[in-house]
Amino acid sequence: AGTGKFFVGGNWKCNGTKDSISKLISDLNSAKLEADVDVVVAPPFVYIDQVKNSLSDRIEIAAQNSWIGKGGAFTGEISVEQLKDIGCKWVVLGHSERRHVIGEDDEFIGKKAGYALSQNLGVIACIGELLKEREEGKTFDVCFQQMKAFADAVPSWDNVVIAYEPVWAIGTGKVATPQQAQEVHIAVREWLKKNVSAEVASKTRIIYGGSVNGSNCAELAKQEDIDGFLVGGASLKGPEFATIVNSVT
Ligand code: G3P
Repeated sequence: AGTGKFFVGGNWKCNGTKDSISKLISDLNSAKLEADVDVVVAPPFVYIDQVKNSLSDRIEIAAQNSWIGKGGAFTGEISVEQLKDIGCKWVVLGHSERRHVIGEDDEFIGKKAGYALSQNLGVIACIGELLKEREEGKTFDVCFQQMKAFADAVPSWDNVVIAYEPVWAIGTGKVATPQQAQEVHIAVREWLKKNVSAEVASKTRIIYGGSVNGSNCAELAKQEDIDGFLVGGASLKGPEFATIVNSVT
């Protein structure tokens, strides 16, 4: 960790019930969390209100998606205005499951990011390569192309956290090595320096996601350019998520 305040997000994805979430909330409320860390959880939309009403204010709330513009006749979508109304501070955009399972493309994701930021909703902007792309030596090209789509669309980087999540590491138990992650993080930072500004490069937090757990987080957190984590599976367990939050170095 080397840039800004350590940032740990828990992406609950499409998991949970009222009961399991109420247990998770009470575990998080009683966990001891290091003060100098931004902690965010992203529940499924339908449970955001429950979480907002019972989770400690110490932890901020992110949505897992948002619409590209103002609400209206867009069946099934949720607007940025609604997310803010219900107490969200962040939205996760460009997640690999939205890109590769749902089929969202760079331009659509960029639009969402641009609109969310224009309304002062923070964006956790996800990038990452597929295994095939890594094996073909295309990791940087893919990440830079995804970065460019964000850069072309965002009005400012003040409220953006970048999450590098190699797709082959997500939900597979195959975490990137600290060196593999650091190599991409520093490359993304260099990309920001060259294509946005030195200031944005030095201020923007780049967090890692993909099979982070209570046992591997400490080594990853030691890397200079790993400024936090985006955690999936392990964020559904309160005590383990707390261990990851507290891995800040
Ligand atoms: O957004 C976080 C995520 O994709 C990582 O998931 O389960 O590998 O920690 P997981």
